[in-house]
Amino acid sequence: MDYRGKRRGEDGIAAVIDFLLANARLVLGVGGAAVLGIATLAVKRLIERAGRTPDDEKPDQKTVDGWEELSLVSASPKLLKKGIEGVVMKQIAAAAKAQKEQSKPSSNVAEKPKTEVKRIQLCLSLQERLQQYYQSHVALSVEDVSQAQQQALDICTEIQGFLHTKHPDMPLGEMHLGGSLLDDLQVVAADHACLLVPLQIESMLWKLIPGEDTILGKPQFWMVRRINLEYFPRGRSFWDKYMVGGYLSSKMIIEVLNKSVMETMNWPSLSNTLECTVRPVMGSQELKLEIQNQHSQLYINILPTIRLDDTVLTAQLEVTGSFDNMWFHSLYTSETARLSELDAEDHGLRKQCLKTLKAVCRNSPTLRKLSGGHLTNVILHLSEKEYDWTEAALADRFQQAITEIIGYLEIGCLPSYFKQTVNLLSDFSEEEIDEMGFMLYCAVSEPEILLQP
Ligand SMILES: *[C@@H]1O[C@H](CO)[C@@H](O)[C@H](O)[C@H]1NC(C)=O
Repeated sequence: MDYRGKRRGEDGIAAVIDFLLANARLVLGVGGAAVLGIATLAVKRLIERAGRTPDDEKPDQKTVDGWEELSLVSASPKLLKKGIEGVVMKQIAAAAKAQKEQSKPSSNVAEKPKTEVKRIQLCLSLQERLQQYYQSHVALSVEDVSQAQQQALDICTEIQGFLHTKHPDMPLGEMHLGGSLLDDLQVVAADHACLLVPLQIESMLWKLIPGEDTILGKPQFWMVRRINLEYFPRGRSFWDKYMVGGYLSSKMIIEVLNKSVMETMNWPSLSNTLECTVRPVMGSQELKLEIQNQHSQLYINILPTIRLDDTVLTAQLEVTGSFDNMWFHSLYTSETARLSELDAEDHGLRKQCLKTLKAVCRNSPTLRKLSGGHLTNVILHLSEKEYDWTEAALADRFQQAITEIIGYLEIGCLPSYFKQTVNLLSDFSEEEIDEMGFMLYCAVSEPEILLQP
């Protein structure tokens, strides 16, 4: 590569690229880890720099400043194996291209306000910045939450009444709302809730089979077996008609509710009554309603659940996929209860830290697959080794959580807090993991990249 004769800014990039190439060659064979962190951050810097004018800076000096921070970062051997050249070099090419385009004069003007915002944010400590982000982008207003709850509750009441009239013999428990909206864990917008529909099954006739004991052997995927058929023949339980091969079929339960609620209820009339637009979401694997208000939108998931003793199973085809007889073993209730309990014991801010992370992931296309469930487990694990969750420690815990997530991504495994055998990352592709890892690496030295609205 020949970069001679180019302008100063491009020389800076040339230096970094040369550095990267030299080190990539050096390290790819050796299998060390540190250089990847360097490469990752350097690329990030390149991309940032591409957003500035070449005359804005002294490239050599910048580069030197950078290296000091770079060495603080640890890195993923897995990513390294995939090859710096494959993953990182593509980014360099893109950055170099962006840089070229940036040197056209017209784009300089648009860049100014962004730089100014950045400068203001630099004056705040991460602690203050996290609080600011929480207030402005994470926390929901009490009014929004109660309005969404009321609306979901109205619909719950209507559906319950309707089902009761249409299927008086269907043994259902009291329907109720559930999920993050009810547990003060929802972030960014009050826009989704669960409507739990408890199926009452007879403990004498049905038995819950733990995931490990089924053919699939997946710890989260349980089955519901019909027992005592010789004494209580088929038909004795209302749910017998939804049995396939001796097991209660989650798919048939979803289908019957789809038919008897989603396809049958008079949604236009209900919309009139509730003064909003309520309609089923078509083509989804979930039983999902969309409620459109004047200024907001709310989604309600109808979730058939089975509870025997302390075990809660849900019919979630989008999770259990093509296995029609599988029920999802939900640990949501235990996890959120534990989190609240811990916070209550020491007036900690685990929930606030979790909600900040949830908002970060929800707002980032790269991190979106990290759900509230994943993040709750990360915080619960972290609570086992860190006891200070006071406000003063918030920034430290936040950054630590990021590092922990990187660690889980590196080994491709996040064990469920209450069930070590469950790997919550099992359906993440290698590519998704690499991309998340890449972004979070960059965030270790520059958390600000996560705190964008
Ligand atoms: C319910 O039925 C509709 C078609 O009437 C279909 O589009 C939708 O995907 C079904 N929902 C579920 C959860 O099966």
